[in-house]
Amino acid sequence: MKKLLVNLKEKSYEIVIEKGLIERISESVLEVYNGNKIFIITDKNVDKYYGEVVSRSLINSGFNVKKLVLEPGEETKSFNTLPLIYNKLLDFKLTRKDLIITLGGGVIGDLGGFVASTFLRGVPFIQIPTSLLAQVDSSVGGKVGVDLERGKNLVGSFYQPKRVIIDPNVLNTLEDRFFKDGLGEVIKYGLIRDKGLFGKLESYKDKREVLENIEDIIYTCCNIKRIVVERDEKDLGERMILNFGHTLGHAIEKYYDFKLYTHGEAVAIGMYNIAKLTEEKKLTENIYSEKIKNVLIKYDLPYEVNIEEKDEIINTISLDKKNMGKVLKVILVREIGNAEIYDTNLEFFK
Ligand code: GLY
Repeated sequence: MKKLLVNLKEKSYEIVIEKGLIERISESVLEVYNGNKIFIITDKNVDKYYGEVVSRSLINSGFNVKKLVLEPGEETKSFNTLPLIYNKLLDFKLTRKDLIITLGGGVIGDLGGFVASTFLRGVPFIQIPTSLLAQVDSSVGGKVGVDLERGKNLVGSFYQPKRVIIDPNVLNTLEDRFFKDGLGEVIKYGLIRDKGLFGKLESYKDKREVLENIEDIIYTCCNIKRIVVERDEKDLGERMILNFGHTLGHAIEKYYDFKLYTHGEAVAIGMYNIAKLTEEKKLTENIYSEKIKNVLIKYDLPYEVNIEEKDEIINTISLDKKNMGKVLKVILVREIGNAEIYDTNLEFFK
């Protein structure tokens, strides 16, 4: 088993990674929780494969378990879903001594984590991420939240889990498109902090070879995130490097109303285009955008949008109120494995 300790003083916790962990989840839960009640939040897609095995393992260890199965998809991560969940928790008479488990991808982790951070002013929770994106990124670091009608992640908090339990085997049931979605973020980790990881992604032949090495890949990404979060938990400085490719990526997601591209796909396009732009401006290593493009092509991720739509996408960045007349913080990768924050303004993209 691979283990990482996220050292945040009294909020410290372990990330544990091992193939097959989901089958014996109670062993890992018992190491950090010895209460009675557990409330599992999951969605229909994940429940179909893992709801029963997780509940069964916990019930067999003597826990009183209740499971809530939500609709899959971003719509569920809405502020409006909260009352339903709080009511179920009240019906179950969950207290602050009990535990919430989030079993799912980024939507379930963010939503369930936010519920845990707010119900009764905070209930302990464990993340069991089941998508690659959640395993390498969103389940680690304590960012939890929900969407409002006027935008994504507008309500949330920093609330660290008691443990993150990662079973890479669950990726075998993940739809191919969502595996690629996570790979977009994996490529990002290589670019911002780990030349070796990027080199491996260049050398693997295909998805099969990535899967053969997935435990190491997840460990490497979580370790990078651990280091960054330990130094800047509240996202006031260094943590922003995790947003490489995200300024353009978010604008692309928004321009297409979050329907055409997954987050990882939009970030893939964002990374390639910011790389090209910074190369043109002679701010970064030459030809590294070509390397990004080749890796994205290999893993069947997009790297370009229609030229006609480019101006509209830049407009989307400027429409974002927080970018108006202000310093725009862009993440630059000066050379592969070495990212930094660069203060500029909207003109940079024009
Ligand atoms: N996903 C970026 C962060 O956790 O800061």
